[in-house]
Amino acid sequence: MLPQKSEFAKYWNINSDTVFLNHGSFGATSKVVLAEQNRLRNQLESDPVWFLEEVVEEMWQNAILSISNFLNADPGGMVFLSNATSGVNTVLRSLSLKPGDEIIVPNHTYQACWNAVDFVTSRSGAKTVIVEIPFPVDSKEDIINPILERVNRNTRLALIDTVTSPTGLRMPFEELVYQLQSKNVDVLLDAAHGPGIVPLDIKKLNPAYCAGNLHKWICTPKGSAFLHIREDKIGGIRPLAISHGASVVGTNEEKFRFEFDWQGTCDPTPWLCIPTAIAHVEDLVDGGWSEVMEKKRKLTLEARRILSEELGLDLPCPDYMIASLASIIIPKKGKIANSVFDSDPLHSKLIKEFGIQVPVFNWPHHDKRYLRISAHLYNHIDEYKYLAKVLSELI
Ligand SMILES: Cc1ncc(COP(=O)(O)O)c(C=O)c1O
Repeated sequence: MLPQKSEFAKYWNINSDTVFLNHGSFGATSKVVLAEQNRLRNQLESDPVWFLEEVVEEMWQNAILSISNFLNADPGGMVFLSNATSGVNTVLRSLSLKPGDEIIVPNHTYQACWNAVDFVTSRSGAKTVIVEIPFPVDSKEDIINPILERVNRNTRLALIDTVTSPTGLRMPFEELVYQLQSKNVDVLLDAAHGPGIVPLDIKKLNPAYCAGNLHKWICTPKGSAFLHIREDKIGGIRPLAISHGASVVGTNEEKFRFEFDWQGTCDPTPWLCIPTAIAHVEDLVDGGWSEVMEKKRKLTLEARRILSEELGLDLPCPDYMIASLASIIIPKKGKIANSVFDSDPLHSKLIKEFGIQVPVFNWPHHDKRYLRISAHLYNHIDEYKYLAKVLSELI
């Protein structure tokens, strides 16, 4: 018998035959938000010209204000993109790097974004500076110090995650943004796992750039992400798709909005659902988003404690480095996946034979194999107990 889900599971479409412990990869949209997206899509398709030329603008502004308010960000620098990868690429590919310039990348960085850094550094004769951060890691100084030690007068940018993908580490990003930018190094904050699992106050943090997903932890439909560009950086950043906005005559603000808001025909409903998604999850518990974040974090901490005890494995980082994701280091013996296109055999076995959806990563930069759990409101502690029991037989 599969373990129970939580009382909140009824708000999501998660398959009842799946122990779904991987909210982190692609999120999961709630039923209320999917219904809102269907409503908007039906409206759009009833007259696409009327919708895209007359109706969308007000809803778009409302969505920009909604996410800016949620993140305490300047709406004037907030634009929508389809995913965090596009946000990171938009910034990197706008920079005019020269030979010798350096971009810092910690070696827990999501590979797609790391590849984007390599792409822009290699084409310009600049350099990707890879910072080795241990895992297991004991303290935030073990993260901050090695990064700061690599700063020199050639450092142009640092790509810093809010929460890392392979290792589920809640980075000390507040200190890092402050310290790096005090040394004149712009920070591109990768908040793919940010909104909805860690408090983010963009005005206070003040990063040069922040790219983040809403389709993960805010539970919007897929294709809903943002890029926030600080006011002094706006002039230097152009969208990946140059479109009508480039020939618009108007103020700088008008040109900026037009360039980013119209990058060619697309379905805007994932962004238009942002206000509904924020309000829906917020309303599920009395304490709103801060309680939602705390509930998920508590569940993650309890889950990783159960896993480490059942499997006799050490916890790889202190509790304060955990948000709603946690990785454990599992033995590397046996078959492992060799590329991102292969599923690790352990992952396949867990889903096919036990109905457990949980990612297993072979992370070549650490020469280690990780299993990462996620926790959202729909999860129940029994699901992690079941995972621990199954794993104790398999590894
Ligand atoms: C840290 C990090 N950055 C970027 C991304 C990319 O997100 P997306 O596929 O939505 O672009 C991910 C995805 O999991 C991630 O974990």
